[in-house]
Amino acid sequence: MTPAGTRDARVIALTLNGRPVAHAAEPRLHLGDFLRHAAGLTGTHIGCEHGVCGSCTVIVDGRPVRSCLMLAVQAEGCVVETVEGLAGADGALSPLQRAFSDHHALQCGFCTPGMLMTLEALLRETPRPTEEEIRIAISGNICRCTGYQGIVDAALAAADARTDGKGAGR
Ligand code: FES
Ligand code: FES
Repeated sequence: MTPAGTRDARVIALTLNGRPVAHAAEPRLHLGDFLRHAAGLTGTHIGCEHGVCGSCTVIVDGRPVRSCLMLAVQAEGCVVETVEGLAGADGALSPLQRAFSDHHALQCGFCTPGMLMTLEALLRETPRPTEEEIRIAISGNICRCTGYQGIVDAALAAADARTDGKGAGR
């Protein structure tokens, strides 16, 4: 965590969940801690802090990124999306979030924000992924609880919901 006013801190301006924000960050602060401690968005979970577990995944300029491996200063001017940005303005869950609930795709929930952001990025790029494509997409996200099947089922259901059941391609 970076206390505001640290001597080497600089202000990082970026777009966060559709809104412009600017917060101070030391050069060594990673994006995950910036989001949690400077921006106050604690939905992004920090697990291993060395790129293995995927729990810290956010979307940066349209791509899933491990926020523990990206410095906050590298996000200057970027468009960053976190799990807090998935629900609608009225708080309604996104199709992917609803599918996670419907298919019991979470237990303790620690991996869930990273899973959601990884799959959100996948579904934007590949609206009708196969089960294999989903498993490959989440192969860098560790879940210690679910056995992954519920997560895969949720992703398939979300793809159906997002595409209104059209064009079954698997
Ligand atoms: Fe970033 Fe584990 S906390 S990959
Ligand atoms: Fe517990 Fe995935 S739900 S780690």
